[in-house]
Amino acid sequence: MASRAVYPGSFDPITYGHLDIIQRGSRVFDELLVVVADNPAKKPLFSMVERVDIMKGLTKKLKNVKIDLCEGLLVDYVRSKKANIILRGIRSFSDFEYEFQMALANRAISADIETVFIMTSEKYSYISSRLIKEAAGFGADISKFVPESVRGPLMKRIGVRK
Ligand code: COA
Repeated sequence: MASRAVYPGSFDPITYGHLDIIQRGSRVFDELLVVVADNPAKKPLFSMVERVDIMKGLTKKLKNVKIDLCEGLLVDYVRSKKANIILRGIRSFSDFEYEFQMALANRAISADIETVFIMTSEKYSYISSRLIKEAAGFGADISKFVPESVRGPLMKRIGVRK
């Protein structure tokens, strides 16, 4: 049976770290659905549709990767797509506690869905979307962390925000 995994996240914005996980995931699973999900704890800079559009452009060469969005409960989305795997990236030990809790909560809601973790490349282990937005706001060069199709809109949005 073909494996279909869902990689959810806020992706506000997507970084080279996320793209690294997507590339690795696309080699592990037959199909990978990368899903912009709503984290009610965060106030995003980009709308879900904007994030989806940027991510579609960045992943179009990966034939087994699709980009989508999910506004409800993640496990309901996973089930609706006939997938049974949630993929999450781990950057450091400190990610583990939060990820462990989320994986167990998702499993408690839906016992047939497993969370699988992939370690990010060490060169991206310290970056996060929040840090990149903060650095960009102070005028730092963020081209090491995000592709040009993210940097341009991000600098514009941050500029408007100031
Ligand atoms: N490289 C770089 N950064 C990475 C990374 C990697 N490989 N992996 C994670 N990150 C960063 C992200 O940029 C993000 O940083 P930020 O906090 O500065 O934005 C952080 O690590 C983790 O965020 P993310 O991966 O986007 O997850 P999240 O915690 O925002 O989102 C959801 C979690 C969306 C999957 C979760 O809230 C969810 O499932 N929501 C849907 C509703 C639901 O079902 N809720 C119940 C869940 S139990």
